Amino acid sequence: MESARPVPFLDLKAQQARIATDLRRRIDAVLAHCQFILGPEVAELERQLAEFCGAAHCVAVSSGTDALQIAMMAEGVGPGDAVFLPAFTYTATAEVPLLLGATPVFVDVDPHTFQIDPAHLATRVEQVRAGGKLRPRALIGVDLFGQPADWAALREIAARADLFALDDCAQSFGASLHGEKLGRAADATAISFFPSKPLGGYGDGGALLTESAERAALYRSLRTHGEGTTRYDVLRTGMNGRLDTLQAAVLLSKLTVFADELLARERIAAVYDSRLGHAVQIPARVPDSTAAWAIYAILLPGTAARDRLQAGLKAAGVPSAIYYPKPLHHQPAYRASHDGTALPVSEDISTRIMALPLHPDLTDQDVERIVKAVLAHV
Ligand SMILES: Cc1ncc(COP(=O)(O)O)c(C=O)c1O
Repeated sequence: MESARPVPFLDLKAQQARIATDLRRRIDAVLAHCQFILGPEVAELERQLAEFCGAAHCVAVSSGTDALQIAMMAEGVGPGDAVFLPAFTYTATAEVPLLLGATPVFVDVDPHTFQIDPAHLATRVEQVRAGGKLRPRALIGVDLFGQPADWAALREIAARADLFALDDCAQSFGASLHGEKLGRAADATAISFFPSKPLGGYGDGGALLTESAERAALYRSLRTHGEGTTRYDVLRTGMNGRLDTLQAAVLLSKLTVFADELLARERIAAVYDSRLGHAVQIPARVPDSTAAWAIYAILLPGTAARDRLQAGLKAAGVPSAIYYPKPLHHQPAYRASHDGTALPVSEDISTRIMALPLHPDLTDQDVERIVKAVLAHV
């Protein structure tokens, strides 16, 4: 008999129970000192995050989206600039260049790993150059679903075309590539602490990582209204983009269990791989990498098969989600800025992709139940 309790897609309460004592201690410390803006926990978090991934500098900010925006503002990206990014990603990646007056140029993705396709990026850069209307200026490579993009290839193309390379690592902090944690793969790396991310806070939050002291100083200035060395010294147009001290306290507590949670996520992904790989298309592993498994996405043969599986899982108390039902160049907000290039992989996989629950608090019984429910409906 199946248990009546639905499997949680995400279980922040279970995680909270595991870290309750430390979490309370951290929050109480903030309530005691009352430095709610840029309190000591923010600097401590920045140190710990930089250390975790071996980055030289970390600047904590108000969200992953603001991290992307601050990084682009620091480079002076604006009207006339082409910013290359995958068509198959979350909307924030494309929203930021548009907010700054630049033009997103959508690039297709790999059909097996779902990561941005370096060969297509090179083609798109050449197209933009030949078109003569926009200046190739920046790349936002996304590490999608917890796996890293092919940064060796992306960096080479970016260097050849003189693009600023920004790693949108919102979903994949904790993953590694060629033996190094993500955080140093590009000129700057943006991460998100949205609650459902592998390292999630209790509200919005994000951070920028970079090897460049100059960039880090600019990010600090931009996150506080473009300030200079004193508070009322305004050097540039900035924003209110700071991370709250309370969020930093929560994240410091969550960092104590983060490495173990990454191992738990990998264990579950390995079970899905071995038990489901013969029945559905599982995500191909990016070579020489480890994943943070924010999302475990499978591919079904088509939309009807996906609908059937989703309905079957729902009846069995197993939730699922679709990331992403539309590639960005088909979204009303971005259609007008797209040059009409077909992006066949992004267009195809959005019709048949589906995510299964994957988080560190799934029990072995939950995982077994998910596997059996999938196998019963494909
Ligand atoms: C790929 C990607 N980029 C950027 C963001 C934006 O992060 P945030 O929600 O913290 O602004 C997200 C997630 O929300 C994301 O998944």
